[in-house]
Amino acid sequence: MCGIIGILGSNPAVPRMLESLKRLEYRGYDSAGVATLDGGKIDRRRAPGKLEALTSALAQDPLPGNVGIGHTRWATHGEPTEANAHPHATDKVAIVHNGIIENFKALKDSLLADGAVFEGETDTEVVARLLTRELNNGAAPREAFQATLAQLEGAFALCVMIAGEENLMFGAREGSPLVVGLGTGENYLGSDAMALAGLSNRLIYLEEGDWVELSRDDYQIFDRANQLVARPVSISQVAATMIDKGNHRHFMQKEIYEQPTVVAQTLGRYLDPNAGTVRLPGMPFDLADIPKVTLVACGTSFYAAQVARYWIEKIARVPVEVDIASEFRYRDPVYADGGLALFISQSGETMDTLAALRHAKEGGQHVASIVNVLGSTMARESDLVLPMHAGPEVGVASTKAFTCSLSVLASFTIALAEAKGQIDAEAVSGYVNELERAPALMAKILANDEEIEAIARDIATAQDILFVGRGIYFPIAMEGALKLKEISYIHAEGYAAGELKHGPIALIDEHVPVIGIAPNGGLSEKTVSNLQEIMARKGKVVLLSDMEGGVADDMYAQFKMPSAGDLITPILYALPVQLLSYYAAVEKGTDVDMPRNLAKSVTVE
Ligand code: G6P
Repeated sequence: MCGIIGILGSNPAVPRMLESLKRLEYRGYDSAGVATLDGGKIDRRRAPGKLEALTSALAQDPLPGNVGIGHTRWATHGEPTEANAHPHATDKVAIVHNGIIENFKALKDSLLADGAVFEGETDTEVVARLLTRELNNGAAPREAFQATLAQLEGAFALCVMIAGEENLMFGAREGSPLVVGLGTGENYLGSDAMALAGLSNRLIYLEEGDWVELSRDDYQIFDRANQLVARPVSISQVAATMIDKGNHRHFMQKEIYEQPTVVAQTLGRYLDPNAGTVRLPGMPFDLADIPKVTLVACGTSFYAAQVARYWIEKIARVPVEVDIASEFRYRDPVYADGGLALFISQSGETMDTLAALRHAKEGGQHVASIVNVLGSTMARESDLVLPMHAGPEVGVASTKAFTCSLSVLASFTIALAEAKGQIDAEAVSGYVNELERAPALMAKILANDEEIEAIARDIATAQDILFVGRGIYFPIAMEGALKLKEISYIHAEGYAAGELKHGPIALIDEHVPVIGIAPNGGLSEKTVSNLQEIMARKGKVVLLSDMEGGVADDMYAQFKMPSAGDLITPILYALPVQLLSYYAAVEKGTDVDMPRNLAKSVTVE
């Protein structure tokens, strides 16, 4: 995580860097900082906390200079203090970094032995001091940078300025993304297309091991073996306009209420309602030959994968394996010959998911990804990209990307089932019609939001809340619990309703609300029995269901859902759990869009 920006420009760098950092804040907001070169000298301003703290510091104490590097941090090594904020600098160099230097301890010991004095605890400061040592030993800037890179192990994207060198900037990519932006008489470096959106749309995505030397009019890219290489220039479609909240109080709220529109937009790319068919983009392999599907993702995207497992196994009858990306590659998974590995990621940059994708590729799998950011690393490294068309998601807690991922996964399931001969054209058309109903039903649920808001305000004082569901609603229960804990800081767990009696039921008393997710039909009777067991122990049951009359008279509350077919109910039930979390967080007064300790894009292991 962490966002980085570098500008080798001909206008004051600070206002431009602040614009970029605003766009990058989704990558972390523990601290922010900028450094510039002016008259050959490095100067910097840093501030703990969100970007606005840095903006205020700069207003009081401006920083001139047309060359600059900037950073927004998600803390890994060292607390989010000013001393640990980037840029890290000596009198010779200033550096911003995204990633983790794994051998920083050994490097630091060697620098300490040489008499270096450290001001903070970060791994990045080690890089600044290593580079300074190389320069002090007489190396020219390029050689010094090369020699420094050669000593680093771990994951990093680096952007470097050197004192006295007003027409020079270095960048390097090893495990964390870095993009070169090409300007006219100016060049730039940034974590992603968003960082560079206001500066350039001509981008070069560095590959793993690449490093780059920039001047204002030129750039040279080298690979890991220090060989000059050519990398393609791509034209970014990311708009420079800052996304605003419209009439909403938070981005998360806006994104929740956008869901009928973006789900319709996403389904529109995959379904043909007139023909009653599903179309996937040009397939580089035949779905009929896929023996097994492996789904891998993190966070909310992982719960979308869990929902999809139920769909794919039930409708397409293809075996599915689902795993959390951070666990996947380390357990040495057994791949099926010709299997499909499908990765789900809003950002397309999550480090663990990307590493899992590369593992599957090496394992000979067909690699597909469902991403929201089209120019992302996962999209570029996949054989097949299934975009989700959610539009930019700014709130750290994912909402619309979840329902849009589910929309893609549902479409994919139908295509797979048809290719496998599990369903005929009539059944396909039935599923397509059902999916087409989702946006209108979602709008209906959102129109009743006062009811769920009232329930959320009531339960916001609880210390613990459980979400329970069975079958395909079990992952929705887990997503509800994740959403609630990440933005309201209320402890929450998502459980399979039938598993409750094997432990968590011990937590139940009159203070513990339990959110039961139980659409009528299927396993609902069994879930209702589990909810009865909770009420028998004075638990406060909140039922999300289309059932008439709820579970019992002494039930705490019910949010009445519309009735719908099995395929779309998980998409619909995502909404009330999002709204519950959102309004509980608002009631508690937390920072909904930037919850503590989190970041939107997690690019470290
Ligand atoms: C972070 C975000 C989550 C997100 C997860 C996976 O933890 O806070 O909201 O679900 O990363 O992100 P991805 O971009 O891979 O979907």
